[in-house]
Amino acid sequence: MKTEKTQRWRVPVGTVRISPRAKRYVREALDNDRLAYGPFLRKFEERFAAEHDCKFAVSCNSGTSALHVAVAALQERGRWKPGDEVLVPALTFVATANMALVQGLKPVFVDVDPRTYNIDPERAEAALTRRTRLMMPVHLFGQPCEMGPLMGLARRKRLKVVEDSCETMFSRWRGRSVGSFGDAACFSTYTAHLLVTGVGGLVTTNSAPLATHLRSLVNHGRDSIYLSIDQGRSAQVMARRFRFVRLGYSYRLTELEGALGVAQLEERAALMVKRKRNALALMKALRPYEEWLQLPWWPDYSEHAFMMFPLVLRSETKTAITDFLERRGIETRDMLPLTNQPYLHKLFGSGLERRFPNAAKVNRSGFYIGCHHGLSEGDVDYVAGVFKAFFAGRKRK
Ligand SMILES: Cc1ncc(COP(=O)(O)O)c(C=O)c1O
Repeated sequence: MKTEKTQRWRVPVGTVRISPRAKRYVREALDNDRLAYGPFLRKFEERFAAEHDCKFAVSCNSGTSALHVAVAALQERGRWKPGDEVLVPALTFVATANMALVQGLKPVFVDVDPRTYNIDPERAEAALTRRTRLMMPVHLFGQPCEMGPLMGLARRKRLKVVEDSCETMFSRWRGRSVGSFGDAACFSTYTAHLLVTGVGGLVTTNSAPLATHLRSLVNHGRDSIYLSIDQGRSAQVMARRFRFVRLGYSYRLTELEGALGVAQLEERAALMVKRKRNALALMKALRPYEEWLQLPWWPDYSEHAFMMFPLVLRSETKTAITDFLERRGIETRDMLPLTNQPYLHKLFGSGLERRFPNAAKVNRSGFYIGCHHGLSEGDVDYVAGVFKAFFAGRKRK
């Protein structure tokens, strides 16, 4: 069945391009009559881990399930009690806070840095209580958090750390990869992310016992000696294949996503170069409007993967500009508002947003546009022209 390619936007926020290599690998998986965990997923996990300075990666079916098993495994190992606290940035996708909540833990929100939009380490320290067990720094929009101060705090206060790196891959902070700082780190390969397998996620870790625990949770709480049917039918393997040692989940991925993942890992260097070229071209084109528009900022010891291109108006709400862009075919999205979500107001009160002014400012005035590898230089020039038209005639102070 052939479906028509429909593209509503001239410049969408993300792209899905299935390369000839990816199609070949998916066909190979299908020709092998193999969907359950096999050679493609194994290779995907091994290469992904190595690219992120980690010994292990455990694949699962979303970034959210990656966060769930990471939090659940650390909770079980640390014997955390219901109501124990988890530091979560006040600006992130809902899944970060949700996975603390589903485990009966209490998310304690921490305001973000106004320039990087990532969790502010000093405010994280101020939010600690005797019940804080875990910190979940989120590397938003492609930019690593300030991992030095955050890991220092975690060490001093004996906190566990789960990096939510669902929006950031292939980026280093002072030479060290995201995903390798915390006890575990979680990635998403959902559509429009940096690496796309449709649905999908990975948890990385450098701890062998934690990796075994994570794999067990992804596989119904199974005894983790059993990984795949390739292990044969020895009496020991068969006995433990249907032994369940904890309450677990069905969060497995298939070889089809593994095949897409391996292909994209092999092609990722070229894709990331294009993405960065587009982002840097946008930086240059939008510099003249900095009086009104805050552009992405990152320190020189940190790399930005630009999953998207975030912008915050300095003193206005965003609707005039986002309407202007969208009417001209440039898709915009809100920068992950969290503290104004109705379900969180029910849990934490309607004053939640007021407690985190930097996140509230982003909710009001922040939006992002695409800078992905599917955009040509012509598309970026087009975006620059539309911004120029929007700001034309404004008086400078
Ligand atoms: C910061 C963050 N965390 C978690 C997730 C959840 O990932 P998934 O949609 O794969 O469940 C996302 C998704 O975009 C995200 O941006």
